[in-house]
Amino acid sequence: MTDPNALFEAWFDEARAGEPNDAEAMAMATADAAGRPSVRMVLLKGHDGRGFAFYTNAESRKGDELAANPRAALLFHWKSLRRQVRVEGTIEPVAADEADAYFASRSRDARIGAWASDQSRPLESRDLFEARYAKRVAEFEGKDVPRPGHWRGYRLVPDRIEFWTDRPHRLHERRLFILNPDGGWTESLLYP
Ligand SMILES: Cc1cc2nc3c(=O)[nH]c(=O)nc-3n(C[C@H](O)[C@H](O)[C@H](O)COP(=O)(O)O)c2cc1C
Repeated sequence: MTDPNALFEAWFDEARAGEPNDAEAMAMATADAAGRPSVRMVLLKGHDGRGFAFYTNAESRKGDELAANPRAALLFHWKSLRRQVRVEGTIEPVAADEADAYFASRSRDARIGAWASDQSRPLESRDLFEARYAKRVAEFEGKDVPRPGHWRGYRLVPDRIEFWTDRPHRLHERRLFILNPDGGWTESLLYP
């Protein structure tokens, strides 16, 4: 039986080698407490047997929705490979030390940006954002830029993963993996 995480890694390697940019870009869908869906792109910043990790502002719209409803879905579409991967599961927090390590790997400007942006909240003008950014640059002058408490990692722990491959005449191939209660995966096919 194929391990879907190993299959994902093999496809992801091919995407990184072949896609012109952002092979790690994925659409991430959430729903609010009333079940209203929303979707946006984020970057995959870690994949292993635990799940798919990404980083964002916990006070953003997606952060609010994940706090109300921890179910989420991811979609990768690698156009040059003509493949998509659909992932569904439950969100858990990335450990603080892991988030610190990733935050520290970002550029200084990006780290300061995380302090300056109230992600997803109304912004009166671009000038105001630039002024807030400049204020933070001055504040951190000569100092390390720590990870803001609201800037966090999330891991989607998958329970359903589908691999879709383009085939001629729309006779596409769909391989579905469903997580079993014992932690193993059951593979089946779906009509295209
Ligand atoms: C290719 C791409 C990658 C992105 N990666 C991230 C990311 O990793 N984290 C993030 O917070 N926003 C990322 N964004 C911005 C989000 O799509 C979105 O605008 C922002 O997170 C606010 O979403 P929300 O209002 O639903 O919370 C990315 C956008 C694009 C186009």
